[in-house]
Amino acid sequence: MPVIFHEKTKEFHLCNGEISYIFGILANGQPGHIYYGKRLTDREDFGYMTEYAMRDMAPCAFEGNTSFSLEHLKQEYPAYGSGDMRFPAFELEYENGSRTVDFQYKEHAIYKGKKGLEGLPAVYVENEEEAETLELTLEDPLTGVQMILFYTIFEEYPVITRSTCFCCKKERVTLLNAMSGCLDLPDKDYEMVELAGAWSRERHVKVRGLEYGIQSIYSLRGCSSHQFNPFLALKRTNTDEHSGEVIGAGLVYSGDFLAQAEVDNFDVTRLIMGIHPNEFRWEMEAGEKFQTPEMVLVYSENGLNGMSQVFHRLYRTRLARGKWRDRERPILINNWEATYFDFHEEKLLKLAEKAREIGVELFVLDDGWFGKRNDATSSLGDWRVNEEKLPGGLKRLAEKINALGLDFGLWIEPEMVNKDSDLYRAHPDWVFADIRRNYCHSRNQYVLDFSKKEVVDYIHGQIRKILKEAPIAYIKWDMNRSFSEVFSNGMDRAHQGKARHQYILGVYDLYERLLREFPDILFESCASGGARFDPGMLYYAPQAWTSDDTDAVERIKIQYGTSYVYPLSSMGSHVSASPNHQIFRDTPIYTRANVAYFGTFGYELDLTEAAEEELRIMRQQTEFMKKHRKLIQKGIFYRLKSPFEHNSSAWMVVSEDRREALFAYFRVLQPPQAGFERIRLSGLNAEWKYRVKEETGESGYEGEHYGDELMYAGLSLSDQSSGLVKIAGDHQGDYMSRLLSLSAII
Ligand code: DGJ
Repeated sequence: MPVIFHEKTKEFHLCNGEISYIFGILANGQPGHIYYGKRLTDREDFGYMTEYAMRDMAPCAFEGNTSFSLEHLKQEYPAYGSGDMRFPAFELEYENGSRTVDFQYKEHAIYKGKKGLEGLPAVYVENEEEAETLELTLEDPLTGVQMILFYTIFEEYPVITRSTCFCCKKERVTLLNAMSGCLDLPDKDYEMVELAGAWSRERHVKVRGLEYGIQSIYSLRGCSSHQFNPFLALKRTNTDEHSGEVIGAGLVYSGDFLAQAEVDNFDVTRLIMGIHPNEFRWEMEAGEKFQTPEMVLVYSENGLNGMSQVFHRLYRTRLARGKWRDRERPILINNWEATYFDFHEEKLLKLAEKAREIGVELFVLDDGWFGKRNDATSSLGDWRVNEEKLPGGLKRLAEKINALGLDFGLWIEPEMVNKDSDLYRAHPDWVFADIRRNYCHSRNQYVLDFSKKEVVDYIHGQIRKILKEAPIAYIKWDMNRSFSEVFSNGMDRAHQGKARHQYILGVYDLYERLLREFPDILFESCASGGARFDPGMLYYAPQAWTSDDTDAVERIKIQYGTSYVYPLSSMGSHVSASPNHQIFRDTPIYTRANVAYFGTFGYELDLTEAAEEELRIMRQQTEFMKKHRKLIQKGIFYRLKSPFEHNSSAWMVVSEDRREALFAYFRVLQPPQAGFERIRLSGLNAEWKYRVKEETGESGYEGEHYGDELMYAGLSLSDQSSGLVKIAGDHQGDYMSRLLSLSAII
């Protein structure tokens, strides 16, 4: 049984073959944290690990007892107003203004499987044997308010999921803060790993040592954001990609979030994660409930790669859903960087024809097909085709594309409106802003108030009509601005504190309705590139546009960072034009593909302008991707050398049975008189012999090596030129890359 309850000691031990998560009930009835980490042999009493000790001026719960202070006890879900001065996991206010609480253990239930969270994305199980869940009910006896802490442990993963549900029984309560989970750790010898950035340089890896005080990342932008990702990891200082201890925490949510590590002045670390409390105020009437989003905790003693591999497998197979979850993803052409807003049917068909010639499978029509949208100033909200550009509508275009042998996909941005639109003219109060004041635009657009059901219903009607009208196989769902001054017009005060969370629930609801009615459509989420690349979105859209930055060199870092949490099957990655449209950098066509292969793969450039030789290479590229995409999208990914620390970097993906692998090496600048370089591979079978074959360029290395040679001695990537003499071939110069396939000879 993965969840063990020791009646006598009132201790809970959640364990599988790899991990243990242990907590008990403290003398005041609250759950106190005992241990999370590598599996421990079960015993009746781990109570000795709970440290009671007198510390300066601590508020103590029991008269005459100077060592029971919540300020210095490790807890499961600490409250504000109970003697603990650290950042609380929750805070609530009763009708009389009191914020004092006293939640005590009432009962618990242990059952096989895992329940879904109403209206929210969550990790799931396919059969009950995969996991076991503990529901721990706590009650504040004075008010009857209950709180259920949910814990699920998976049989096959070193994963614990957590969330909390508040149930208001007798009186009204206002939740001021409701985190998804908390983890009090016994020391502070960690480094915090986060994914930070900005538009076009999302999810760069940042590492900082923990210090006294709070170190946090967050979003108050209404989306998970370009700036920070709802993920953080605490790793030991000697942990690297391949070995050492790390705890990764992810939030299955797409809106405002807070993720932080607080180190108190006695060297205890508190990790918490949840909806950002700043703009959150949830009033509950008697009988109502509030469910927090889910927090996913991963423990690894196999370094950051070990942590990432668990996230990948869990998110790819037990968070992503639907028909496309396990399918190889189609190679697409997107017309955005090929045409921007400037297109008509004939131009698109020419592009599609070329795409078909090179082996593309899906044609995606991006922004600009509706209303009178010829630039970014108008028509969001008016989801009617522009017949001037596309006479005969989407149906005619989609059918012509289908006749060429390609599927047809479409871009939408359902959550937004331009002032220059019929929708805005009819419903100016549907924007998420106090319309009596001046309010900010961003990219000339405004956020629709998805906290109102009528708005979601209206947009649902519009999008549904389009999807019924034409044979649409794929949708790119964009979201191109952050929230600024949020106000839900015409709604009461109580609604305002709920509006931001209800907005996200509205987005999830719209996704859910469309998925139910159109289960065959492949959804790709997008938010100005990668501003909503989060686990919440993955529940609805199994892939996401990783970044608007399509430059191959920038993408090495972006995809490397994204891979800390998200599987390759979720990363939209395209070959685009050179010079690149964001960075203006010229990169070789083979390097652009060598980066883009490690994702869902596609093209985003004007193929009608491409030279025959380029088209020939692209044809080879699509053939290569079709042959290897199963391995890429379902294999085990290893980061081998970081682009954040070196001029050269490397990664590889290995099939689960270890018979196939692909290795990629990237070197940004050509060094003069380059040093010799060997990279040690990972994940192979040491005893098997592999055929190693260069896949970039017309000729290259081919040889046979045992797994042990490749993993322990390494693969030589040394430059063959002297720095003075350029040797023929692709493996020199700036922005160079190499791609090698490995197949076992058994
Ligand atoms: C932002 C997206 O990230 C781009 O790929 C493109 O779809 C534009 N929006 C269109 O407006």
